[in-house]
Amino acid sequence: MRGARTPAAALFRRVFLINGLIFVAGTFILALSPASVSSRIKLTEIPVLVVGLAVMLTANALLLRSSLAPLLKSERTTAGAAALAAQENERQRIARELHDEIGQTLTVALLMLKRAVDRAPAEIKSELAGTQEAVRASLDEVRSIVRRLRPDALEDLGLTSALNALCSEFSQATALPVVKNIASQGDRLPADVELVCYRVAQESLTNVARHAAANKVWLDMHSTANHLALRIADDGRGGVVDEGAGINGMRERAVLVNATLTITSAKDEGTEVRLVIPLPDRDG
Ligand SMILES: Nc1ncnc2c1ncn2[C@@H]1O[C@H](COP(=O)(O)OP(=O)(O)OP(=O)(O)O)[C@@H](O)[C@H]1O
Ligand SMILES: [Mg+2]
Repeated sequence: MRGARTPAAALFRRVFLINGLIFVAGTFILALSPASVSSRIKLTEIPVLVVGLAVMLTANALLLRSSLAPLLKSERTTAGAAALAAQENERQRIARELHDEIGQTLTVALLMLKRAVDRAPAEIKSELAGTQEAVRASLDEVRSIVRRLRPDALEDLGLTSALNALCSEFSQATALPVVKNIASQGDRLPADVELVCYRVAQESLTNVARHAAANKVWLDMHSTANHLALRIADDGRGGVVDEGAGINGMRERAVLVNATLTITSAKDEGTEVRLVIPLPDRDG
């Protein structure tokens, strides 16, 4: 199609049409109503003029607002998606730097310590071995931060495998079983949908580990032709009241893909996080 309309051109057309409509209506009313204005305006005519003007301005404002709402909403969503992309790029950069700089330095330090431990006199051997352990623990920590910052599995293998990997890591770290029910996705979903899903699952599982005191965790994902639903539930203490940066972050991410995020968390009855994302028409 030639001459695709830009948002600015569409905006201009709408404003022009609405204003035109109001002017036409105003002209008709003037022509058809008995109201008239003397050549030297009379005091009694002023209220009529003011009321007429107010009616026209109000009609204009109402029409403009309802007609521009979809445009403004789509602009907000686009800006939000750009913010999400920028944030993900920044995470990738930090992950790369952590891995390449601190990760390498710690690895070298570890090797040097190992040689030192082997040759050290008995009286400082155990102290050095302790230092070696501390450095090894830092290296593990850096690696796990890098993994969390950069969901490699998501890019390489897609959402289904990435969620499976996330669950295994969680179970390993917490010794809590995760009952998984992850329907495998035939096609890759849009990248932003996959990312939002992954991040919501990640934050929800982290919250279970940190706050829930649960015995069991469930993670399900399934999709129909027009939506994708993700659910993370636990049988822990429930009663989520104040929402911190983690839950707010999930809500903001949900908005970016027009999804709804619902948290159900009655006291002592566990917590359930549900994310429902509308999917773009796949055959359209
Ligand atoms: N699964 C859960 N079970 C019980 N309480 C929870 C659960 N998830 C969240 N909460 C409660 O809700 C609060 C807010 O969670 P949120 O993720 O927003 O913040 P946070 O985990 O405390 O910090 P962060 O910003 O690092 O995520 C938590 O402090 C906790 O009290
Ligand atoms: Mg949290």
